[in-house]
Amino acid sequence: GNPSRKQVRVWCDGCYDMVHFGHANSLRQAKAMGDYLIVGVHTDEEITKHKGPPVFTEKERYKMVRAIKWVDEVIEGAPYVTTLETLDKYDCDFCVHGDDITMTADGVDTYHIVKAAKRYKECRRTEGVSTTDLVGRMLLMTRQHQQVGEAEYLVERGHSDSLGTDASARSPWTGVTQFLPTTQKIIQFSSGLTPKPGDRIVYVAGAFDLFHVGHLDFLEKARQQGDFLVVGLHTDPVVNQYKGANYPIMNLHERVLSVLACKYVSEVVIGAPYSVTSDLMDQLKVDLVCHGMTEIMPDADESDPYTEPKSRGKFLQLDSGNDMTTQRIVERIIEHRLDY
Ligand code: CTP
Ligand code: C5P
Repeated sequence: GNPSRKQVRVWCDGCYDMVHFGHANSLRQAKAMGDYLIVGVHTDEEITKHKGPPVFTEKERYKMVRAIKWVDEVIEGAPYVTTLETLDKYDCDFCVHGDDITMTADGVDTYHIVKAAKRYKECRRTEGVSTTDLVGRMLLMTRQHQQVGEAEYLVERGHSDSLGTDASARSPWTGVTQFLPTTQKIIQFSSGLTPKPGDRIVYVAGAFDLFHVGHLDFLEKARQQGDFLVVGLHTDPVVNQYKGANYPIMNLHERVLSVLACKYVSEVVIGAPYSVTSDLMDQLKVDLVCHGMTEIMPDADESDPYTEPKSRGKFLQLDSGNDMTTQRIVERIIEHRLDY
């Protein structure tokens, strides 16, 4: 580009509670409107005051936003109403927000000031995903789970046959999903990178359902083991087989986007085999396969999914130092269900 041109600095702010690919997609669009993206994240206290307590703590929310690949800087504890003082303080030209209205507890548009000053731009909200929707899926899931009990497993398995081929990507677990996955969205989220000669390639596989801080800490550690990190995502029926109940909560397409939005991830295998095969390791030229400290569930034939990398001396168990799990998120939601 032209070195004399002034860098355009863009401001975004929000709660970013249960960060999902809708948030990531808004930050992607915002970044494309300028050169440098600063994201202000509200404190727990501020969010509680205006719309009730968040599911994730501010520390967790700051970390999640910082890991989104289009974000250059996070400002902790940004005020709920965006002011010109805030934009000026961080030398931002304008503020970007989705095309939905956000209000304070008193019913004031949180962007009225920047709108009036013409320092406001809109990005398109991603249809079919929101924190409210995800919480709804989790509450629905527990209700169905309690009602149907043992029988539900068979129901799920039956439905699961159509997963991955159905364009609407509906599943009994993610039943309310309205999100339409397109190749365009995958391209927009993809890094487009290929490994450079000599790059050390690290492979990890999992469900990565409701992409959370535990996953993030794990991927950061895995990335530190090499130069190019490939994440294999299991299909919905496979995840259901080893996680049980109504998991996964996000379908494969949604999980792909969540993982691609993470700055540590170089490439994603969409629907990776549960066991890490010799073909997969050769094709991707994998130097190291990692798994966290969480339990390694056996494959359908009871075998260890990491037999191949272990026999090659290319397996490493990593401690993410974080005990967050998808299950714990669901438990947090249920504990606080009266607040939502
Ligand atoms: N956003 C989006 N698409 C979504 C959800 C959120 O583009 N499906 C955008 C919002 O428009 C906003 C930014 O993400 O610009 C941060 O939003 P936040 O204050 O966290 O969000 P909510 O709108 O409350 O998001 P959610 O309903 O998921 O909580
Ligand atoms: O459970 P899931 O398949 O989503 O986990 C993906 C990977 O992330 C696994 O290797 C798991 O051990 C790791 N992980 C972790 N720390 C957490 C949660 C998951 O290391 N808190």
